[in-house]
Amino acid sequence: MKISLTTKDPLKISSDLLIMFVGVSWKEEIVSLGQEIITLVSDIALTENFTGLNKQHLFMDLSRHNIKKLLLYGVGEDKITNIFELQKIVSEAIDLASKSRRKKIVLKVFPDWLKHYPADELSKAVAEAALLSTYIFDKYKGKKHHLEKITLEELILITTPPKITTFEKGIKMAQIFASATNFARDLVNEPPQLTTPTYLAKVAQNLAKTHGLKVKILDKVQIEKLGMGNFLGVAKGSSEPPKFIVLRYKPRRKSKKLVLVGKGITFDTGGLSIKPSGSMETMKIDMAGAASILGVFSVISELKPDLEVVALIAACENMPSGHALHPGDILRSFNGKTVEIINTDAEGRLTLADSLAYAFKEEKADMIIDLATLTGAMMVALGSDITGFFTNEEKLADKLLKAAEGSGELIWRMPLYANYKENLKSEIADLRNSSKTRYGGAINAALFLEEFVEKTPWAHFDIAGPAFAEKNTPLYRHGATGVGVRLLLTLLTNF
Ligand code: BES
Ligand code: ZN
Ligand code: ZN
Repeated sequence: MKISLTTKDPLKISSDLLIMFVGVSWKEEIVSLGQEIITLVSDIALTENFTGLNKQHLFMDLSRHNIKKLLLYGVGEDKITNIFELQKIVSEAIDLASKSRRKKIVLKVFPDWLKHYPADELSKAVAEAALLSTYIFDKYKGKKHHLEKITLEELILITTPPKITTFEKGIKMAQIFASATNFARDLVNEPPQLTTPTYLAKVAQNLAKTHGLKVKILDKVQIEKLGMGNFLGVAKGSSEPPKFIVLRYKPRRKSKKLVLVGKGITFDTGGLSIKPSGSMETMKIDMAGAASILGVFSVISELKPDLEVVALIAACENMPSGHALHPGDILRSFNGKTVEIINTDAEGRLTLADSLAYAFKEEKADMIIDLATLTGAMMVALGSDITGFFTNEEKLADKLLKAAEGSGELIWRMPLYANYKENLKSEIADLRNSSKTRYGGAINAALFLEEFVEKTPWAHFDIAGPAFAEKNTPLYRHGATGVGVRLLLTLLTNF
């Protein structure tokens, strides 16, 4: 979709539809449309009881004008509380326009939004919402499907001459951020028979080739040599060979190093502690953490952060078989700690543990962030819109909360109190992979990970809830959401 800017009067632009976001004082806000249209709109608004309150909208035929239709979209009196809410509203209006099969639309933001947000942040949020809401994954659909297809081809944002360059900057950023997010969504939406560990490794190699990044793929023998017993234990049950992916972006100047670890279980059956079929249906999403990090790397050379960024992905499949890991097995981690396997479905923390220990020992990371669809418990706690995060460092917590605020992603800090470490004690090994109690499951998993980062500033994002949208909403179509991409990109641009 093309996104452009104009400072013209909306009535002078030929288009299929004009979206105007208005509040309760909508009458004053439409003054610029001229007397003829004001009278028309006021008449219709009266019969339709249009108040400008939240989400109330009005379609109007203006076929005698350059703009063929007008959509007044009420944002009410409520103050917008965050970018997420703003993007939801924008995507809902664009969705309405799209459903009426418009190709070229003009959009005028609610004047109050410009009081709340700097112009570049606002235009980024609006353009990004448009680009995310017109995402569709339909490559496996038949021909008839074209009737459902999104028709929107061009979006023109109205701005004023002094704001044009900042608006432009915002749109450029939106294009980068949405492209990275949609890259991750594609990767997760693809079926698991395609997105094997070998496939993820190829994706990383292609990214390295096209964007001038460094890549290293370790195969099973090399992983054995390194001594990543946890990772190999999980991979054992599958006939798909595991791959350890190391992708690296290096800035010109010597700088600090951020390691991004992504959970890359390309399918999670649970292993011998097999999942019930209902819970397994969506388990292709268990590489969403890895996909989001690859999404970040798909645009990193455009953003050029002043920071070395390394992606680590221990990619494998969690399958039951004659070779599979047993409950009762004891694995030796990359950092030497032994783990008693209680439940083979708690596999993510095992592959992550070896990656985190690698980030500490081999990469000597200054900072580590992991993204993982780690626990059902996190979903129970925060639902499907909010990511829970854990961190051992206050400054990092502040940075992440600030980045989230600007990114449109919702995050919430969870506790890492040491008292629950008790739950992870094993009688015969250093740790057990599943807690003694089912309560506080997301915290127990995070405490397990903490055993592998030493004192490195580290944050863990449990994206089990928001990685996949069960509900089809305009902002997040049914399927993968690419959660974490915009947050990490915002963090990188803030550094
Ligand atoms: N991949 C799952 C977590 C998950 C659940 C992700 C739902 C997305 C949606 C993870 O490997 C898992 O199975 N976790 C177990 C841990 C338990 C056995 C300690 C869980 O959450 O039930
Ligand atoms: Zn599992
Ligand atoms: Zn899993």
